[in-house]
Amino acid sequence: MKNSSSIKFFCKNVLRSVGAQTALMASAAILSELAEAAGPWLFGLILESFSSSGSVSGRLFLGLLGAWVVASLFPILYQALDTRVSPRVFKRVQEDLLDRLSRHSEAFFEKRSAGELGQYVRQAATAATTLHNILFFDVIRILVLLTITELLLFPKQPILAGMFLLWVLIYLALSFKISKSCLSKIYSQSALGARTMGRILDLLMNLDLVHVSQTGQAERASLRETLDQERTAQSDLRGYLTKMNLFQAASKLAISIGVSIFAFRQLQAGSLGLGDFVMFVQLSVLTALQVQNISNRLVEGSNQLGILAHALGTIPEVPSRQMAPPQKAHAGNAVVVSDVHFSYPNGRKVLCGLNLHIFKGQKVAIVGSSGSGKSTLFRLLADSYQAKSGRIEIFGRDIASLTHEELFKNVTIVPQTTRIFNRTMAENLIYGTRATEGEGRQMLSALGGDAILRKLPAGLQTPLGEQGSLLSGGERQRVALCRALLRRSPIILLDESLSALDAPSCEQVSNFLREHDPDCTCVMITHRLESLGDMDQIYYMSDGRIAESGTFAQLMARDGLFRQALNAGNNV
Ligand SMILES: Nc1ncnc2c1ncn2[C@@H]1O[C@H](COP(=O)(O)OP(=O)(O)OP(=O)(O)O)[C@@H](O)[C@H]1O
Ligand SMILES: [Mg+2]
Repeated sequence: MKNSSSIKFFCKNVLRSVGAQTALMASAAILSELAEAAGPWLFGLILESFSSSGSVSGRLFLGLLGAWVVASLFPILYQALDTRVSPRVFKRVQEDLLDRLSRHSEAFFEKRSAGELGQYVRQAATAATTLHNILFFDVIRILVLLTITELLLFPKQPILAGMFLLWVLIYLALSFKISKSCLSKIYSQSALGARTMGRILDLLMNLDLVHVSQTGQAERASLRETLDQERTAQSDLRGYLTKMNLFQAASKLAISIGVSIFAFRQLQAGSLGLGDFVMFVQLSVLTALQVQNISNRLVEGSNQLGILAHALGTIPEVPSRQMAPPQKAHAGNAVVVSDVHFSYPNGRKVLCGLNLHIFKGQKVAIVGSSGSGKSTLFRLLADSYQAKSGRIEIFGRDIASLTHEELFKNVTIVPQTTRIFNRTMAENLIYGTRATEGEGRQMLSALGGDAILRKLPAGLQTPLGEQGSLLSGGERQRVALCRALLRRSPIILLDESLSALDAPSCEQVSNFLREHDPDCTCVMITHRLESLGDMDQIYYMSDGRIAESGTFAQLMARDGLFRQALNAGNNV
């Protein structure tokens, strides 16, 4: 079942992209093998004619030389084609899997580290490339060689031909069975490899913490343990494969010696000419060698298929959504959340009957103590997670019926953790927008970010380092905000996006947000209660629901949670 989905993936994604070149490669493999099999046949004919007439035709000899030339050169032609095709297969599979990954929501990444998934993508690409080679080189070659051997052998020695074919079939069936039983070892090795890669990346990304905490030694010891497990799995697998190679070598030797003795007896009895004797022995040795090769390649192929299936199972396709019929939108509603309940996959209950009604163009703040579920609400609005019950509407349409394309055309979210690529400032500013670099610079300037550009050695063209390490926290937030505003979506969700700005900068940016587009609905999570005087509405979250709502003046007029929090020093 698993394998059938990877075979489908292989045919659809790999073969379609390199079909024409693959046909050329297959032709080169067929020709080279025809020539290789023609060698013993022509050699047999030469000996036959020499022993019967004492002379050899020059044509036969030329044919033999020609066969040798083709048999030697065509595999090189195959390789030359392959140097173009394999990288394309590799690239195509990586692109497709990265595309799959990019469609998954946050919930998917909760249990899998980025490094681990990246390793699966690489493993799948390598597996597909190897499979492509096995199918269009090794399998084709053995099929051609076996067919020719049988065609030459059968008219003269039908029993020998039948026994030989039987041996090949038994040999391949046994090899296939052995390869299936080592599949679980392959899975565990590939899973361990991916896990190790995930751990290494996680460690590298947190090296500063390791350094400060002085835990380098403990981390090294724990990593060594993971590497040891991987090594044990590797040697386990190698040991298994060595046993299999032993069986193959013994079996190959048995058939080669068996056919040679049989043919020798026939030669002694006079029922076989010298030429046929040489041809049979050479062909059977050659075919047995190729059968051994192909059995190794088949084992490798089925392993690679297993690895591909494992990677595809780990990175499944995101099912496309059932589109609901368009509903009549209420012109004034931007975001409506009705009685939403939500728990995280680990069972942690976070939202319990949340209701919100945000009108188009409103500037709204969501506040509440740490852990009260504010960011969780945004994750639901970005469809990273789905509510257990209740309903969320964006411009009158149920979020569950929107495609991500539709959703993100309407909604832009700036998450609590600022995302910056290790690319240039310009690329980061206009990432995911249709804006030009000039517009990016203008927006940054409007957000008070001129000073940031002046400090960067190559201005807009300066790469910002891993996660924007060249910038301060507040500068990173300005870049993320600039990028979000340039998307010009009608709804913008800001999760503590101004938290690292100093008070005057925060006020400047807040004023800009309020005034730059009256139609834009802006929902802002913040802990700075004192700065919310101009908000159209403030929602105070507590225990997974809205405990209080109103304008700043209304909330201050009540002796409720908001006023108490503000008087206590803003620290909600
Ligand atoms: N992926 C997750 N799995 C399980 N629990 C989670 C997950 N993410 C958050 N939580 C829990 O859900 C609760 C709400 O988290 P959330 O991030 O929504 O809080 P918040 O109101 O945004 O807090 P803060 O103001 O500190 O950012 C927290 O108790 C948190 O521990
Ligand atoms: Mg939060």
